[in-house]
Amino acid sequence: MRLSVIGCGYVGLVTGACLAEAGHEVICTDIDAARIAALKTGEVPIYEHHLDKILASAAKKGSISYTADAGEAIRFGEAIFICVGTPPRNDGSADLSAIDHVAQQIAAEARSPKLVVEKSTVPARTGIELQRALAAYSRGGNAFRVASNPEFLREGTAVEDFFHPDRIVVGVEDPAAGEQLREIYRPILERKFSCPVHSGKCPDGKEAEFLVTTISSAELIKHASNSFLALKISYANVLADLCEQIGANVEEVTHAIGLDPRIGTQFLKAGLGFGGFCFPKDIQAFISLAATVGVDFEILKAAERVNKQRIERFLGKINKALWVVKGKRVAVLGLAFKANTDDIRFAPALEVIKRLLDEGAEVHATDPEALERAKKQLPQVHFHEDPYQALADAHAVLVCTEWDVYKRLDWERAGKVMARKLVIDGRNLYSPEKMKQLGFEYVSFGRD
Ligand code: UGA
Repeated sequence: MRLSVIGCGYVGLVTGACLAEAGHEVICTDIDAARIAALKTGEVPIYEHHLDKILASAAKKGSISYTADAGEAIRFGEAIFICVGTPPRNDGSADLSAIDHVAQQIAAEARSPKLVVEKSTVPARTGIELQRALAAYSRGGNAFRVASNPEFLREGTAVEDFFHPDRIVVGVEDPAAGEQLREIYRPILERKFSCPVHSGKCPDGKEAEFLVTTISSAELIKHASNSFLALKISYANVLADLCEQIGANVEEVTHAIGLDPRIGTQFLKAGLGFGGFCFPKDIQAFISLAATVGVDFEILKAAERVNKQRIERFLGKINKALWVVKGKRVAVLGLAFKANTDDIRFAPALEVIKRLLDEGAEVHATDPEALERAKKQLPQVHFHEDPYQALADAHAVLVCTEWDVYKRLDWERAGKVMARKLVIDGRNLYSPEKMKQLGFEYVSFGRD
C-alpha cells in the first residue's frame, strides 16, 4: 500500500522504515528541510538500534523516499501517519498545534480520500477533534477517515518492538478503516517478511493481538499504559526508600513480588527514576486530561511527585557522602535518560549535573552515545569518550544511566586513577558486597 509519514522523529522514522521494510511504499516528510536532505543522502539523524540497517535496506529496495514538500507526501499515500511532536505546555497539557497544522496541510493538499492515522501520543478525544477539523478545513470537499494507532515503541528497541509487538491497537469509527489498518499490518501480524533484526530467524513469540477499539479508547490505552508503567517505577522507588530505613534489600523485595504474574518483575527497578520524552510528559497530560473532565487522578500525581523527589534523594546521598561538594571533581557515568539511546530529553543525569554545577562541583561526564547532544546543553562540563578518563582524579563517581559498558567497567583499574574510591550508584548496577570488597565506599538505592 502507498503510505505517507508526516514527521521524521523517533516515531516517524521507525514507523516509516519498518512499514517500508514490511513491503509497503512509504514517503516521509518533515518541516525540517535539513533533516530531509540528510535522510536523502543516507544519513540517519538519530541513534536507534537497527534503524540505519532498515533505512538502508528500504532505500536499496526503493520502498522508502523523502520529500520536504508536505503536499507531495500527502498526495502520495492512501493512508497518512501523523508522527509529529506533542510537547507539554506550561500547564502539563499536550500542545496539539503541530497536529492542527498537519490537519490544515492534509485538507489543503489531498486530492483523494485518505485514511488519516494518529500515531503521535495525544489525549483522548483528539481524534474526534481531528475529524472535525479535517472536515471544516476541507469544507467538506474530501472524504477523510480518522484512526488512532498508538505506538508502544521503547527507544533503543523500537525497531524490534515494531516487528514483534505484543499488541497493535487501532481506534476507528468505521470497520473499513479497521480493515485498511489490518491490511497495513498484515505482514507483521502474519510475519510475512524476513525480519532484519533477527536475519529472518525470529525467536518464537506470542502472536501479536490486533485490537480494534473506538478512537477514544485507543488514545486512552496509550496514556494508560505509560502512566501505569510510571506508577510501577515510583512504587519501586518508594519501596527502596522504605528498605533503606528498615534495613531490607529492595532488589530482593521487587524480585519476589514480581514473581507473582499479577505483578510482574519488569519496571520495578529502583533508582534515579524515569525520564525521557514520554513518561514525564504523558503522565502530566493524563493528569491534565482527567482534570478537564472532573476526575482527580491523585494516584498519578503521587507517582509524579515521587519521581521528582528522586533527584533530591540522589543529591542528598551525594552531599552526605562528599560532605562538601564545592570544589570537588565529580565523574558522571551516563547522560542519556536510559541505556541504548542518545536521547537526553528529561534525563535525570542532566538535572543532577546542573545542580552539582550550581553547588560549585567540577563535573566530568561520559556516555557512549549522548555526548554530542549533551555538549550543546552543558558547556561548563568536561566531556570524555573514555570512561576511565572521566573517572581520573574524581572524588566521586555518579552512575546515572544503566549502560552495559558501565556494568562491565574494570573497577580495580578505575580505583587506581580516582582521587577517592567513592561510587554513588543511581541505577543499582553493582553488587554492594563486591564494591566494598574492592575497597570502594559504595552508595546505591534501597540496599544500604
Ligand atoms: C516508553 C514506553 O516503555 C513505551 O512503551 C512507549 O511507547 C514510549 O514510552 C512512548 O510513549 O513513546 P521509553 O520512553 O523509550 O518508552 O522508555 P522506557 O524503557 O519505558 O523507560 C522510561 C524511563 O523509566 C527511563 O528513564 C528508565 O530508566 C526508567 N525506568 C524504567 C526505571 O527507572 N525503572 C524501571 O524499572 C524501568
